[in-house]
Amino acid sequence: MSEKPVINYGLEGIYVDESAISKVDGQNGKLWYRGYSIENLAEQSNFEEISYLLLNGNLPTNNQYEEFVEKLKERRDLPKEVKEVIKVMAPVSHPMDVMRTATSMLVMYDKDPNNRESGATMYKVVTLLAKLPTIAAATGRFREGKDYISPDHSLGHSANFLYMLTGKKPNEFESKLIDLMFILHAEHSTNASTFSVLVTASTLADVYSATTSGIGTLKGSLHGGADEAALNMMNAIGDPNNTEKYIEEALEGKQRIMGFGHRVYKTYDPRAKLVRSYLEESLTKEPLDEVKRLLQIVLRAEKLMIDKLGKTKGIWPNIDFFAGPLYRVLGIDSQMFTPIFVASRMAGWGSHVVEYWHNNKLVRPVEWYTGSIDLPYVPMNKR
Ligand SMILES: CC(C)(COP(=O)(O)OP(=O)(O)OC[C@H]1O[C@@H](n2cnc3c(N)ncnc32)[C@H](O)[C@@H]1OP(=O)(O)O)[C@@H](O)C(=O)NCCC(=O)NCCS
Repeated sequence: MSEKPVINYGLEGIYVDESAISKVDGQNGKLWYRGYSIENLAEQSNFEEISYLLLNGNLPTNNQYEEFVEKLKERRDLPKEVKEVIKVMAPVSHPMDVMRTATSMLVMYDKDPNNRESGATMYKVVTLLAKLPTIAAATGRFREGKDYISPDHSLGHSANFLYMLTGKKPNEFESKLIDLMFILHAEHSTNASTFSVLVTASTLADVYSATTSGIGTLKGSLHGGADEAALNMMNAIGDPNNTEKYIEEALEGKQRIMGFGHRVYKTYDPRAKLVRSYLEESLTKEPLDEVKRLLQIVLRAEKLMIDKLGKTKGIWPNIDFFAGPLYRVLGIDSQMFTPIFVASRMAGWGSHVVEYWHNNKLVRPVEWYTGSIDLPYVPMNKR
């Protein structure tokens, strides 16, 4: 028998490809999209522009930008059948399940879904980018028994999403907050869902299948679902004075504190810092009592966790810890947090598919077999 190889559980530390899309520096807490720092992009850019940047590799000229924005606007609305399925599912299923199903349906409207030429791939990616916020908003409306709101072309990509979800046109600060979340969630190298997208794409399946794989993978609480799980934990803590006791007991019980820790960041997640600062700014704008309470919990939990696990084990806050309270500033229900992540991450998923197909290689890892071999087959009546 040959010697057992080194197994990298969860593919930890394994390089699977080269990529020029984003760089995550886990030791120094830095993130760049196509070479531009996340801090600069969050402050100066917008989601449409960073999507163009991620997909094309360069910042757009004015004409390129206008053309891209127009394509997104034109394709925002949903086919009738997709709306109908969302309406049936939304009241009984988690919004992520609705997202996955409705996204999968979009293949029906593509006359050439298996075309992988770069122009065709880009067309599919931009179409998904345009429609995913509408799927998320429709899901949010129908799950509460409300009517579908058609896209408003006078609004930007993320502000229009918020309008379609809440029925209220966001003010400048609200528009900034939702766009910030779209920008910060757009891309993060080969994390679990992006890898899942690439595994599917590597088989030469179509963009819709790859995206559906990504949505399924993003749902889990160790990945995209952590934002919803973190807010649920804050609600379970309830009173800010209960924060330390709750977390101490959870850690003693070997539970994970959602919104902390990261496979790559062994320091403060730079995206979390940005969300935290906007969350603090929201306190200057007549915040709801709920938001004030959440922020107290957040700050106390952050301090305790950094003291206990940050310096010793490299477990620091990640973006999901602050995302929930920020979405609550905007009045967004916790089950809608991860669907927003999907709508935004489509920019990264699409960029990776485009890049990967330039030099496609089927993903097929190996595993070390620990079972028996050559067992005698016993017929059922003799077992
Ligand atoms: C994201 C995550 C899965 C990455 O973890 P990983 O690199 O696979 O590391 P492991 O799961 O092996 O954890 C390493 C150690 O840290 C501990 N740990 C990691 N995250 C923790 C957390 N959030 N709370 C408490 N302990 C944590 C583990 O229990 C483990 O402890 P041990 O060595 O005593 O067994 C993990 O940090 C986690 O579960 N976080 C909570 C979910 C979350 O916020 N996900 C969003 C990420 S953006």
